[in-house]
Amino acid sequence: MTWPLLVLRADDAARMSRLHMRSFDDPWSAVAFRGMLLDTTILSLGIEIDGELAGFVTAQTVAGEADILTVATAPEHRRKGLAASLIRALVSRLGERGIARITLEVAEDNAGARALYAAEGFTVDGHRPRYYTAGRDVPVDAILMSRKLGV
Ligand SMILES: CC(C)(COP(=O)(O)OP(=O)(O)OC[C@H]1O[C@@H](n2cnc3c(N)ncnc32)[C@H](O)[C@@H]1OP(=O)(O)O)[C@@H](O)C(=O)NCCC(=O)NCCS
Repeated sequence: MTWPLLVLRADDAARMSRLHMRSFDDPWSAVAFRGMLLDTTILSLGIEIDGELAGFVTAQTVAGEADILTVATAPEHRRKGLAASLIRALVSRLGERGIARITLEVAEDNAGARALYAAEGFTVDGHRPRYYTAGRDVPVDAILMSRKLGV
């Protein structure tokens, strides 16, 4: 299934934060999202279902490369292909802008997200030890992944 994509703007910050709150132990505030979306290096794409924000991806482009900052799908809409669609759309738009590589970090214990990124062509570059602490008794490594574009 495919969904129409929205380019998210500063006015979407509150609903992005609400969705983030339902997806992460250390969610970002509406103020934080608003600040990000006012930054021209940020690209954020979303999908609405029944008028509600059901998923989004946010990336930052610096010096010809992009970094995925966050991806979230509302719990009731998971495993329908939203995040995969968002990442594909992001890859396509960044490719059109001449971006050569997309990087990201994912918690080692986030098997779902790791499977998503691997399915979308991201490969492992390395680890950042004990990087994630929020909501955890024991810190967890970040896995650094990337995907080259235009090859
Ligand atoms: C990770 C997350 C964004 C995935 O969103 P989603 O819209 O459910 O993902 P999709 O439906 O597009 O999944 C595409 C593929 O990714 C993989 N995948 C996604 N979630 C998975 C899970 N929980 N377990 C195993 N594989 C998973 C599968 O290969 C899936 O394809 P399939 O459903 O045909 O098997 C969502 O679970 C989420 O918001 N989690 C909380 C926030 C988070 O962890 N974000 C990523 C931080 S790095």
